[in-house]
Amino acid sequence: MFDPVVTLRQRFATALHAAFGDEVAGTDPAIHRSAHADYQADVAMALAKRLKRSPRDVAQALLAQLQPDDVVASAEVSGPGFINLALQPAYLEACLAGMSADARLGVAKAANPDTVVIDHSAPNVAKEMHVGHLRSTIIGDVIARVLGFAGHKVIRQNHIGDWGTPFGMLIEHMLDTATTQSVSSVQELVALYRASRAKFDADPAFAERARHRVVLLQGGDEATRALWGKLIAISVEHFTSLYEQLNVDLRPRDVRGESAYNDDLAIVVAELEAQGLARESEGAICVFPEGFLGREGEPVPLIVRKQDGGYGYATTDLAAVRYRVGTLQATRIVVVVGAPQSQHLAMVFAVARSAGWAPAPVRLEHVAFGSVLGPDKKMFKTRAGDTVSLASLGEEAVERARKAVSAKSADLSPERQEAIARAVGIGAVKYADLSNDRIKDYVFDWDRMLAFDGNTAPYLMYAHARIRSILRKAEVVETQLGPATLEAPQEKALALQLLQFASVIDKTVETLQPHRLCLFLYDVATTFTAFYEHCPVLKAEGQVRASRLALCSVTARVLGQGLALLGIEAPEQM
Ligand code: ARG
Repeated sequence: MFDPVVTLRQRFATALHAAFGDEVAGTDPAIHRSAHADYQADVAMALAKRLKRSPRDVAQALLAQLQPDDVVASAEVSGPGFINLALQPAYLEACLAGMSADARLGVAKAANPDTVVIDHSAPNVAKEMHVGHLRSTIIGDVIARVLGFAGHKVIRQNHIGDWGTPFGMLIEHMLDTATTQSVSSVQELVALYRASRAKFDADPAFAERARHRVVLLQGGDEATRALWGKLIAISVEHFTSLYEQLNVDLRPRDVRGESAYNDDLAIVVAELEAQGLARESEGAICVFPEGFLGREGEPVPLIVRKQDGGYGYATTDLAAVRYRVGTLQATRIVVVVGAPQSQHLAMVFAVARSAGWAPAPVRLEHVAFGSVLGPDKKMFKTRAGDTVSLASLGEEAVERARKAVSAKSADLSPERQEAIARAVGIGAVKYADLSNDRIKDYVFDWDRMLAFDGNTAPYLMYAHARIRSILRKAEVVETQLGPATLEAPQEKALALQLLQFASVIDKTVETLQPHRLCLFLYDVATTFTAFYEHCPVLKAEGQVRASRLALCSVTARVLGQGLALLGIEAPEQM
């Protein structure tokens, strides 16, 4: 860790103890980058009450213990009781040198790595993946990348919808229409699925056969299972090609669909009953976890076995928690699904806890997110009012990016331009999603996400490529540049910004909020722009030139690493 804040925290702990003794043990000061100083510490306000002194008074007493040294150049009380700190340039230079000498840019590997199961994407078999799956797919992907980079053991689980009554219907219809051999694309599956649904609603005899087919499927009938396996294979191939297009690291090996829990469902219910947690209610078996009340204050049930004896979504999710902790040894489970499922997951987690399937300190987390909205602020749809398939979204993104790239990078070869257009188009869609606080809805806006200015992927990718081009023109060996000296305020500001990288990764690991990383990278890019405007690099000479090139180099590495963690390509040239 080369983050000066870590050192400052230690300094404050010592100063707090010297000034106030044991009374303040455990007080953790908030220390931020600030527009008014290198850092601002906020601790006096919180302590003032406890010490029955004014915040400024507390700050003054602390200050007396924070004598300038090799880290702190000066400290002063500001406003109602903040402490503004300026750090020694030599100390900041040493921090930055440490960071750039480290292949991991100062991000330490977790001392106690978690085994983290990340449940994300989870599209449904025999359906096209649509914009509703976009957020789970890419938010989960970034969380997996960041946690992996931070040294945790990451196990991705693609909990695809591959089980249930629709498959009886679909298989029966495929047998009727003799399409079981010929079907090969997900589009065909979708068409068959629609037709089978219509037939199911119109023809009671067919409905009866479809239900019987479900029984055969669940009972493990070989011929039925073989047909079902084919549906899955076609669908997983479709998902996988989309993941590749989206630069999302999900593979067929990560698929563990709802069907995988089929044999566990009866056991889950039996264990809940044996523990006295589940009971019969109106013919169904239900758990009423504490604290979940309906509008009239009545307890809300989590149905674990339906009236007809079948199992639903909730039982599968319970079985998944049980498997992930019991078999995969997860110490942290992260489920990336939309905010509308908050209550469902909270109930599943509560029941899993009571049943002892996820004992403390196992963490169970719902990474919730809002909806993607169209320009009319309603659910994002095509002009015809259909859901937008991910395939068409990706194609349109690249198509639109082609226009922008051919104008901006006209000097590059057509192949290069095409590769850049792909990276920009896909990157733009992903970044527009990731850069919003995930819990909020956001409006899908092509022009904004593809703009080369503002908090967008093209802006960051371009900033990165521009720095790489400076470094190419300088014709230096980056690893031999030596440490940067921080003289101009813009140089210092850039260093202070870059030094936050490790703590931003930490925060992202803790909060599972990718927009924090996005905002940090955007700040890096704008701070770099200010530096570049005031501090000539290629035109500088000698030590100054080498120092500024060193700053360029570590900036490009931070941007490149950050974009990689977001699953966004960072071309060398644009
Ligand atoms: N397959 C579901 C859908 O498309 C999402 C499943 C989410 N994951 C979970 N463990 N419940 O809506």
